Amino acid sequence: MTRYVQHGLKVKSKPDEIARQNFMLNMRSYVMLDMAMGMKKIYDNNIEPNFKKLNKRKPKNGDEIHKTIKKDTYFKFYSSIRCNAQEMVFRSVIPPIERSMIDLKKKAKKLSTSKKANGSLKIDKKLTIPKSVSALDVHLMPGCYHSEHSENDLTQGALYDNGVSVFSMGFFGEKLDDIGSSISLFIKKKYPKFKPVRILDLGCTVGHNTLPWNKVYPKAEIHAVDVGAPVLRYGHARAQSEGISVHFHQQNAEKTNFENNSFDLVFSSMFLHEVPKKGIKQIIREAKRLLKPGGLMLHMELPPNKMLDAYNSFYLDWDSYYNKEPYYKTFRDMIPEKVCSEAGFSKNKFVQFIIPSIGQFGEEEIIKSVNSQNGNVDDRTGRFTKGIHWYCFGSWK
Ligand SMILES: C[S@@+](CC[C@H](N)C(=O)[O-])C[C@H]1O[C@@H](n2cnc3c(N)ncnc32)[C@H](O)[C@@H]1O
Repeated sequence: MTRYVQHGLKVKSKPDEIARQNFMLNMRSYVMLDMAMGMKKIYDNNIEPNFKKLNKRKPKNGDEIHKTIKKDTYFKFYSSIRCNAQEMVFRSVIPPIERSMIDLKKKAKKLSTSKKANGSLKIDKKLTIPKSVSALDVHLMPGCYHSEHSENDLTQGALYDNGVSVFSMGFFGEKLDDIGSSISLFIKKKYPKFKPVRILDLGCTVGHNTLPWNKVYPKAEIHAVDVGAPVLRYGHARAQSEGISVHFHQQNAEKTNFENNSFDLVFSSMFLHEVPKKGIKQIIREAKRLLKPGGLMLHMELPPNKMLDAYNSFYLDWDSYYNKEPYYKTFRDMIPEKVCSEAGFSKNKFVQFIIPSIGQFGEEEIIKSVNSQNGNVDDRTGRFTKGIHWYCFGSWK
């Protein structure tokens, strides 16, 4: 089994498969930490000085660095190892998943009626899958989030869950929910009077970061939407097995069927950067429609390019060029404050935070960070050199 998938849908890997998964975890860690540091040295010692000699100035932004560095041998080596590692992560978990599919379906069926939780699942067979999902294997995950290989299939959910377990190198925590756990605790401490009774998670995939909201707001009714049926089926069974009631819906976040003013909190994590610009704008407008007056919209995301230095911008946009994440850079070039105000949110209700990872820094640091937010984004987010911090932005309605 993969290390961080320990709930009722875990699959059994053979010893050689476990060795392969561990190898991939360590290889990713080598690329993302050691090789990334090596590349920064090459940049500082060669790329930037050469650029300055030629242009009589430093590179202005990530694009200029990318254009220059892409001819460099170390960068090519880093990129090719990183692409291969990404593909190999998913390949390392496919054999145990394929072997377990029939069993997983049976377990999911049983879990859906489990008395441990009262969640639900609504699949819409007529939903059109957006091209941004159906036309490519996002971040090189074969079959993306929506592909179905048999009736009531949940393969893509199992692939995402087990793949992320290897991919995340432990940074997402024991239940792969560090983002949701850190942010929900932060919000509870920062706004003690805010007590959401209905919460909605957009682009939830298997609900890794949906479930933690139940811990801080146990009385809240939690809903989650995604366009991928297999990830929702898996997410529903996973939530049931964890004893957490969540209502999963197959819907497009750009146009949901929930009523106006029906949620206190509309949340998303790592979602918007996988959506084209037009869709992002529509999702923010939809969030505003769904929020009750006084409600909060909050998106955990990649930090915007405008707020990072040129090197960090270049480093983060790598995925857009080499990891089948075509909307990554487009999203990062947007200005969150502007996107929110264009969707009708008041400028003075805009919020943005950098929240320390609960797994890495502990609850104490999150509580301390509640009062130390200055509204700016800095290089604590993005590369892992200063420990893991989650960026999020949004607005009160
Ligand atoms: C990177 S994943 C999000 C991860 C998840 N929020 C988490 O924290 O674990 C992006 C998800 O967005 C979903 N998605 C993409 N476009 C969507 C849309 N227009 N409406 C709803 N879900 C969408 C994809 O199917 C995918 O599951």
